[in-house]
Amino acid sequence: MTDLPIRPRRLRTNAAMRRLAAETRVHPRQLILPAFVREGIDAPRPIESMPGVSQHTLDSIARLAARCASEGIGGIMLFGVPAQDDKDAEGSAAWAEDGILNRALARVRAEVGESVVVMADTCLDEFTDHGHCGVLDDSGRILNDETVQRYVRMARAQAAAGAHVVGPSGMMDGQVAAIRAGLDTDGHTDTAILAYSAKYASGFFGPFRDAVGCSLTGDRRTYQQDPANRREGVREAALDIAEGADAVMVKPAGYYLDVLADVAATSPVPVAAYQVSGEYAALIAAAERGWLDRERVVVESLTSIARAGADQILTYFALEALPMLERAQA
Ligand code: PBG
Repeated sequence: MTDLPIRPRRLRTNAAMRRLAAETRVHPRQLILPAFVREGIDAPRPIESMPGVSQHTLDSIARLAARCASEGIGGIMLFGVPAQDDKDAEGSAAWAEDGILNRALARVRAEVGESVVVMADTCLDEFTDHGHCGVLDDSGRILNDETVQRYVRMARAQAAAGAHVVGPSGMMDGQVAAIRAGLDTDGHTDTAILAYSAKYASGFFGPFRDAVGCSLTGDRRTYQQDPANRREGVREAALDIAEGADAVMVKPAGYYLDVLADVAATSPVPVAAYQVSGEYAALIAAAERGWLDRERVVVESLTSIARAGADQILTYFALEALPMLERAQA
């Protein structure tokens, strides 16, 4: 066997050689931490199905955002959890100036200024009493254009509160163009849109629905995409880009790397991927049983998402991963 001319293993001989040959590195500035703020609590509340993640108070989310800034994380994406009493059929607490998410955005912006990118999830499911991402007709069908009008109100309120980026995640047709026009009308021409472009109707969102106390019964298959479809993800991203999206997202991430690679290959704007609550919870549950090595799989999962083409990664591991990535990529 000594006369084998081609030996790819040479590049793996030692750590120094592997470091030199590594094609992908995940940098802290690429990471975005999703974070929850809840109305009416006076201390952070751990989320059972997402160990290590809590629902925050206004004070504690401001401290968390400051920590993201000082650790050099790229962004923080805020989700609001209103009081049950504040939910209604159209989700009006989403655009109320004193709604929990808008108050948190203002508070966080006051805390961090421009030192980290402040993002807002722009969707109604946390705010509607039925838990759908939009408004319904009498037969329970989601109305596209009526829903988009409410997203526009929500995005305008988020920009007014100080969000640098709004993230429409409801998968209604035409939502990006309508939000762009609404923001521009208010003079928020610098507020960027990160479109959740290819968002699949996924079982991996399970723990998130606990995290935000979502009241949904049924599913989101008439607006989120069928996991069977790959081309459709590219089509959705292209439409959002044509409508003015500043960045596009694929979600979930780890089980949709093919879609992510396709979108990354064709997108002229930055591409984000969201390692969602169920991807997070599954790794932790297995690590807690001793079945997986937590540090290795955290680093490997994030590296794989970057390798597939993500410029930015939303992950609940963002802060925890920093020392792990430093060790693995030293
Ligand atoms: C919708 C939204 C969801 C997530 C982010 N934005 C839930 C859904 O579509 O059901 C899921 C995030 C996660 O699972 O971590 N507002």
